[in-house]
Amino acid sequence: MKTIRDLDITGKRVLIRVDFNVPMDEAGTITDDLRIRTVLPTIEYALEQDAKVILCSHMGRPKGQRVEKYSLAPVAHYLSGILEKPVRLAPDCVGPEVESVVGSMNNGDVVLLENLRFHAGEQANDPEFARQLAALADVYINNAFAVSHRAHASVVGVPEYCGEKGAGFLLQKEMEYFHRSIDDPFRPLVAIVGGAKVSSKLGALDNMLDKVDCMLIGGAMANTFLKSQGYGVGASRVEDDLLEDARKLLSDAAEKGVKVYLPVDVIAADRFAPDAVSKQVTIQDIPENWMALDVGPATVICFCEVLADARTIIWNGPMGAFEMDAFSRGTMALSHAIAASHALSITGGGDSNAAVKKSGEAANISYMSTGGGAFLMLMEGRELPGVVALED
Ligand code: 3PG
Repeated sequence: MKTIRDLDITGKRVLIRVDFNVPMDEAGTITDDLRIRTVLPTIEYALEQDAKVILCSHMGRPKGQRVEKYSLAPVAHYLSGILEKPVRLAPDCVGPEVESVVGSMNNGDVVLLENLRFHAGEQANDPEFARQLAALADVYINNAFAVSHRAHASVVGVPEYCGEKGAGFLLQKEMEYFHRSIDDPFRPLVAIVGGAKVSSKLGALDNMLDKVDCMLIGGAMANTFLKSQGYGVGASRVEDDLLEDARKLLSDAAEKGVKVYLPVDVIAADRFAPDAVSKQVTIQDIPENWMALDVGPATVICFCEVLADARTIIWNGPMGAFEMDAFSRGTMALSHAIAASHALSITGGGDSNAAVKKSGEAANISYMSTGGGAFLMLMEGRELPGVVALED
């Protein structure tokens, strides 16, 4: 796979696919700029090379319609502030008006195309839409790791029609960190997997069994594993249709010599609310109508001991309902333990990254991936369509 550095982009129109699908509040203020800051090195490099920089991205899921709240206008404004130069927002992403905006660009200019998903052709990977986008540029760069699991027009269609193509620095860095942590890791390699549902992570859990030495399972998904082992988990969230899969995963792990750690105690609450009545109980003692909303202190000690010996840690999914302070201690403790360890540590997924931020440890994690679904697809051992599309 070529990178932007391998291509001659001087004076050329360079279409850079980025993922500016950033969280915004009601007033249109960007509340987390990780996805903007992480693409800056590629944009700055292209500007140093005197290229005409055309950025394209999706925002939200407007379903092929123009929906103003999903306009990239706030991003253009924000980016202009951090680049300290004008970033012109094109009125659309394809069509005569956009062609004229691009046609009037000088070397060193930056244009951001309007939300790609205002056109149904983006998600449908419509060849005509892809051809129109490709026609805007001489060189295509994918720097959108977080959407590279989607076979959309701007991810897999455009590179088919653009003569020159390559990866931006962010995509390159994401792939390198992931492969370093999974394919040739310092051992022990410990995976921490949490979050709400086993169903969304079954493929990843399965694949990780062939890679890791230890696996720590927390969050609501741990309930399904606990129930599969015969524990009553009260009114906790459980995927009953996956009990057999959970059982099989644990027996496969035992066969493969992978140590899987489940919670031994939890913080149980009488309802899912910040002000719920809660108490710490062992997994044998979860009251019938109560639900487990965090891992308990004994579990934290046990998980942290495993982390202290780790030399590589990969984390996806929180240990509990950490967005509520009363149920955030387990996730916060793990975040601190990962940050304090000497292991190469990688986190992926919006919730894990939000948890790291909440714990104030962002600077002490080796790498925070910008991907959610893309990160999970790699954990499942699958290739990203957007990366495959860059191969000659
Ligand atoms: C993400 O936020 O994970 C990416 O931007 C992809 O968004 P999507 O799930 O709407 O395709």
